[in-house]
Amino acid sequence: MKERVILAIESSCDETAVAITKGGNLLSNAVSSQIAMHQKYGGVMPELASRLHTENIAFTLDTALKDANVRLDEVDAFAVTRGPGLIGALHVGLQAAKTLALIYNKPLIPVHHLAAHIYAAEYVTPLKFPLLAIVVSGGNTELVIMEDHLSFKTIGETKDDAIGECYDKVARVLNLGYPGGIPIDRLAKTGEATYKLPSPALKEGYDFSFSGLKTHVINLVNNTKQRGEELNVPNLCASFQKVAIDAIVSKGLKAAQEYNVKQVVIAGGVSANSYLRSEVLDKFPKINIEPAIPPLWCCTDQAAMIAKLANYLFDEGIFANYDLGVDPNWEIEDFRNY
Ligand code: KG4
Repeated sequence: MKERVILAIESSCDETAVAITKGGNLLSNAVSSQIAMHQKYGGVMPELASRLHTENIAFTLDTALKDANVRLDEVDAFAVTRGPGLIGALHVGLQAAKTLALIYNKPLIPVHHLAAHIYAAEYVTPLKFPLLAIVVSGGNTELVIMEDHLSFKTIGETKDDAIGECYDKVARVLNLGYPGGIPIDRLAKTGEATYKLPSPALKEGYDFSFSGLKTHVINLVNNTKQRGEELNVPNLCASFQKVAIDAIVSKGLKAAQEYNVKQVVIAGGVSANSYLRSEVLDKFPKINIEPAIPPLWCCTDQAAMIAKLANYLFDEGIFANYDLGVDPNWEIEDFRNY
């Protein structure tokens, strides 16, 4: 039997990415990152992101096809991130996927970006249900329970800023550059958590609020400078990282027990964080829960994860018409509504 070939496109933020799978196996994974172009603004500029996706999509597609040694007429379905993400950026990927599906008369598969982040773990280990997914990125912070494949229930989320956004804003006030997660993670290892900072974990349930922590750190840095006092940057990074990640891990542990999960999956850009990875690896096995920790290439945005989830969506017959639009605020539970 011929093995199904899926070509997937991702353009929800600042990575233009195309990946190809055959029989679920990854043949190519081309990523064109715009980070260098956004660095001078200290964050992603949405309009610039859309323009760069338009410039980069064709050669990224060409690279993925050449790397996989696949022709467009051999592709069985075209998958694309429909949301959540930046509206203009999403439109570029969607337009490319629609055009290809139309020309080659093949199904168009609409893919939820965060659900795909969770499915990235399948490149290292099969998902085991029920599972808890800790989805932490520049735009999202969610605790998701999955009872089975393609079943998502958000039990907790941030009420304001995402954890990655908080890392980036703290890095900005400390002049550590963009994106802020990597330098803070690196400096935190050389410091001690001596600063007392407010926890982003809300008292009840599984929700978070990161804006209070962000504002507290920004005020602390500005006030210390104004008083002409010395700031211990490694210690501040260690304190920030500890309070931010501890909140995620402690709520995750509580949720994992309440929902009796077998596995915990970490997903999204912040899942590259060394302290989060070591805490999950240390704490969850102690309560008999298997950690699924994807390699770093799987954590940040790419299209391999879009293709992985698209294979499951294809089996369910989740195909879109050519009037498909993007949804910057698409909820994970609504992934069948498009
Ligand atoms: O999922 P992602 O690639 O894209 C967006 O959601 O935009 O996540 C990017 C985020 C950024 O906020 C970045 O600072 C953060 O992931 N990040 C990290 C680390 N590496 C990247 N945060 C904490 N520790 C890291 N090692």
